[in-house]
Amino acid sequence: MAVGNRIQVFAIAALSKDGFIGQDEGHVSTNWTSEEDKDWFWDRTKQAGAVVMGSTTFFATRKPGWPLPERMNYVLTRDPEGIWQKYENDEERSQLRAKENLRYLSASPAEVIEIAAADGHQELAVCGGTSVYTAFLPLVETFYLTREPVALGEGLRLIKDLDLNGLESMLEENFTLQETVTMNDQGTIRQTWKRKKS
Ligand SMILES: NC(=O)c1ccc[n+]([C@@H]2O[C@H](COP(=O)([O-])OP(=O)(O)OC[C@H]3O[C@@H](n4cnc5c(N)ncnc54)[C@H](OP(=O)(O)O)[C@@H]3O)[C@@H](O)[C@H]2O)c1
Repeated sequence: MAVGNRIQVFAIAALSKDGFIGQDEGHVSTNWTSEEDKDWFWDRTKQAGAVVMGSTTFFATRKPGWPLPERMNYVLTRDPEGIWQKYENDEERSQLRAKENLRYLSASPAEVIEIAAADGHQELAVCGGTSVYTAFLPLVETFYLTREPVALGEGLRLIKDLDLNGLESMLEENFTLQETVTMNDQGTIRQTWKRKKS
């Protein structure tokens, strides 16, 4: 959705072939996704200039609790002050408190979009995990979905309560498949889904 035509919201995610975004909450996505997807995610979110993610995703990275550089990082938590206790020591805490591209927020999706627009951003990348993709879904204009030829066996769904069939149906119903790109020789593809005009 464009809020007053000021900001475009897109979701960006990698999906296993059996329909999961990770095996469990602490699973680092880049442990099973392709190099090509990492490059794509890096470049597209940098181009957007602003990302939003849940605190679990933010701490399930190779550098837990550190913002993606050259992008504004809006990180959702119900406890924006208490979350600082998750860092190992005061030195790390003060380094991160000084960073202008990290903001912990307790806010609804609409409020986050308003804040990003007020901060001067024209795009906002919704970067997960399940709870954040699910909450932002009604406001997402474009869905970039990388499909990795990897089975995880079990894990977290992209959208709460939607198994792989349910996800495919939701996409078909609400979005139009605009583009499919082959990303490598291993079978990784990226789909661009655009929301249907109502
Ligand atoms: N494959 C992919 O593309 C991809 C992408 C992203 C994430 N992931 C995976 O997804 C998993 C995490 O997903 P998840 O659903 O468990 O967690 P999540 O969405 O990353 O984070 C959930 C947390 O975000 C906070 N939160 C969410 N909405 C909020 C709101 N409106 N207001 C205030 N706080 C809010 C809460 O934090 P507090 O508990 O601090 O209050 C909540 O516990 C990880 O395994 C990660 O690797 C995969």
